[in-house]
Amino acid sequence: MLITIDQLLNTEELIEVRAMLKDSAWESGQSSAGLQAARVKNNQQLSEHAPHLPKLRALVMNALQRSPIFFSAALPLKILPPFFNRYADQTNAYGFHVDSAMRQVPNEAGAYLRSDLSATLFLSAPEDYDGGELSIVDTFGTHSVKLQAGSMVLYPSSSLHAVSSVTRGERLACFMFMQSMVRDAEQRRMLYDMDMALLDLRSEFGEIDAVVKLTGSYHNLLRRWAEN
Ligand code: NI
Repeated sequence: MLITIDQLLNTEELIEVRAMLKDSAWESGQSSAGLQAARVKNNQQLSEHAPHLPKLRALVMNALQRSPIFFSAALPLKILPPFFNRYADQTNAYGFHVDSAMRQVPNEAGAYLRSDLSATLFLSAPEDYDGGELSIVDTFGTHSVKLQAGSMVLYPSSSLHAVSSVTRGERLACFMFMQSMVRDAEQRRMLYDMDMALLDLRSEFGEIDAVVKLTGSYHNLLRRWAEN
């Protein structure tokens, strides 16, 4: 299941991010891909040594932390420091692949993160480039995603996905991998749907008894399913 979070970044943040990316050098995106993915990956990525990278990462992490929708949808336990990529010119596509299940946590010797969720935060305006759709295959078929700048899509890391060729302009994005407190995608989805329904009920009826009880059930399910 895909979950879209609109306007995770505000306009000022987008301007700041784009200015930093414009002032950065790009390298081949091969470094962060597993063996299968590397064969079909043809894009560029910000180097781990890029001077702006710490600030870019902090800005995105801060945006994630202030979003209650993100918390409810991902129930994040650990988030790998975000990466940034660029599709343009001759390096403009990424064929179908599955993201690696286990990722090394930087600067923590021997530590791994299990990637349950992947996320793409779009940084370029959709009218500024042609192509570049993110295609995600799930049990309901293939979804094609191309969001407004500043918006993000979350999808299970287990799903096959690809980025189609960018044939005009440049597509900048931030991509992330995270381990959820709730490993099972369907359990996570049920919790998210319940939390969103509770939000609606609360705004319509206030803290009536039924809302309080259902909120208790939400937390009890989360307590039962969450791991940390
Ligand atoms: Ni991927």
